[in-house]
Amino acid sequence: MGGALGSLGEPLLPGAAADAWFCACAEVTWEAPRAGPAPAAAGPAPVTWVFPCYRWLRDGCVELREGSAATAADDATEPLLREQRRAELGQRRAAFQWEPFAPGWPRRLAAAATPQQLPPGQRVGPGRAGAFAARVAAGQIRVRLRGLSGAGGSWSSFEHIGRVLGCPPGPVADYVKRHWRDDAFFGYQFLNGVNPVLLRRCPRLPPNFAVTSAMVAPTLGPHTSLEQEMERGTLFLADFGLLDGIGGHRIAGEPQFVAAPLCLLHLRPTGALVPLAIQLSQTPGPDAPVFVPTDAPWDWLLAKLWVRCANFQLHEMVTHLLQSHFLAEVFTLATLRCLPSCHPLYKLLLPHGRFTFHINIMARETLLNPGGVIDQATAIGRAGTLELVARATAALSYAELCVPEDLERRGVTTIPGYYYRDDALSIWGAIESFVAGIVALYYREDSAVRDDPELQDWVDEIFTNGVLGNKDTGFPTALHSRPELVKFLTTIIFCCSARHAAVNSGQYDFAAWMPNTPATMRRPPPRAKGQATAESVLATLPSAGATGALLALLSVVSYEPGDLRPLGCYPEEHFTEEAPRRLIAAFQRRLARISRDIRARNAGLALPYAYLDPAEVQNSVSI
Ligand code: FE2
Repeated sequence: MGGALGSLGEPLLPGAAADAWFCACAEVTWEAPRAGPAPAAAGPAPVTWVFPCYRWLRDGCVELREGSAATAADDATEPLLREQRRAELGQRRAAFQWEPFAPGWPRRLAAAATPQQLPPGQRVGPGRAGAFAARVAAGQIRVRLRGLSGAGGSWSSFEHIGRVLGCPPGPVADYVKRHWRDDAFFGYQFLNGVNPVLLRRCPRLPPNFAVTSAMVAPTLGPHTSLEQEMERGTLFLADFGLLDGIGGHRIAGEPQFVAAPLCLLHLRPTGALVPLAIQLSQTPGPDAPVFVPTDAPWDWLLAKLWVRCANFQLHEMVTHLLQSHFLAEVFTLATLRCLPSCHPLYKLLLPHGRFTFHINIMARETLLNPGGVIDQATAIGRAGTLELVARATAALSYAELCVPEDLERRGVTTIPGYYYRDDALSIWGAIESFVAGIVALYYREDSAVRDDPELQDWVDEIFTNGVLGNKDTGFPTALHSRPELVKFLTTIIFCCSARHAAVNSGQYDFAAWMPNTPATMRRPPPRAKGQATAESVLATLPSAGATGALLALLSVVSYEPGDLRPLGCYPEEHFTEEAPRRLIAAFQRRLARISRDIRARNAGLALPYAYLDPAEVQNSVSI
């Protein structure tokens, strides 16, 4: 009976045709007929077939297929099953369509401006929606109680900021508040903060960075030089060039500013990564001084704040929204459109798209809408974000999303204390091993990958709608072998789960003390040294109103609103055969070991890094 279809057509209760009900699965058990009374052991054991459904049903008829995964090739000789695949994909393509959101952006799910308009099966339940709405309201109330809502003007002192913001919301936020001025903590955040994928080794200076050996000699000390440190591989660069020329936004009528800095960091023999030189413009010259740690303290602090502000824009708009949220929507939409329910890759990937449409619609409604949070709180606003994400989509590379390749190309494989790297590699390895097992089960040879038309359509839709057909991104246009498929699937699952957790979950921790993460600046970048004072720094930081708008958001989106699905947790059993279920169990055991190792390491750290503890990582981009 493998591969059989069944129909569910009748409502469970008479007169209940108008009420939708959720069908998880149907089970059919067959027992051998017995001619007469016989001992239990005499006949064959009953056999049960499972028909996964996992969708809301109302009236009419739904066809379910027995749960064994099958590619198109497996059904090649069964006209009924071939027709069922074709019909299912036809329905899906009608319900889930591509639509542009903004020029140069990945395309999104069409005709779904509000969560209520989502196709059935993709809506969140009332419990989750209610919990989310309650937390949004609570965040806004907290902001109003602190007097942050809509308030303009400058802060009178850092103590004033502390009084208004109140107690840090947790131990990490408390650590941030105590260490935000430290150079070592500034460097630490490039490794283990919310944007841990920007830093790269600097074997030679970019031609537009005017730092010289003489400028940094007092900081480096005797017996070395800028050139020697570059040769040793101890210099790293954070380049915010993608922001160059973006700006001009106003908040409450007040102009806002952002810089596109170049920041050079030095890995000291002690293992501390510290900033060595900061140029706030991509264009060197007399108006773009190179700030160094030996400058006047307020000059140096202000230069670091400009870097932190630029880092916020790149992190939030590019690493978080583009590379996690909007790419996850592309992966999920292509999966729904191209792979029928019986396809092994549909069964593998569906849990990693859970609630992604919903949260992205919410993001477009409340963050990216004109006058939304991005307009209220950030330096570049909505117009700048539209430009920045388009630039970042054009500059995207497949390699930067594949963890081992990304670490190699950035030259950061040996830098100590890089917990994001260590944990990301562990999780990448676990996903890769799991995925390789699934691929080996359903694709016996490379030609099976090449000859799977549904799979190739799926790859093509991701390439066409995700990176807009840009071959320079290195995204595959087709897959030719099982290793290529394993890499692509590992990348997708990692991006939808661990990568999003790494760049999402710490947002409130690192931003709750606003001076550590200023989302906008109210004065232009300094064009000379020796002018910064405590007053000018305070006058540059975001207003109370902008701070409140951002913190109300981050206090909500940094935490899942319940109904958790940690990485590798698949309560909806789309795979019904023993072999894939054994692979899932092995995946879960490996993730549990990684979780134990991370917790053991964190026990010895002054500032634990828990964002990639698999128990805290969600299966999908859902917040
Ligand atoms: Fe997120």
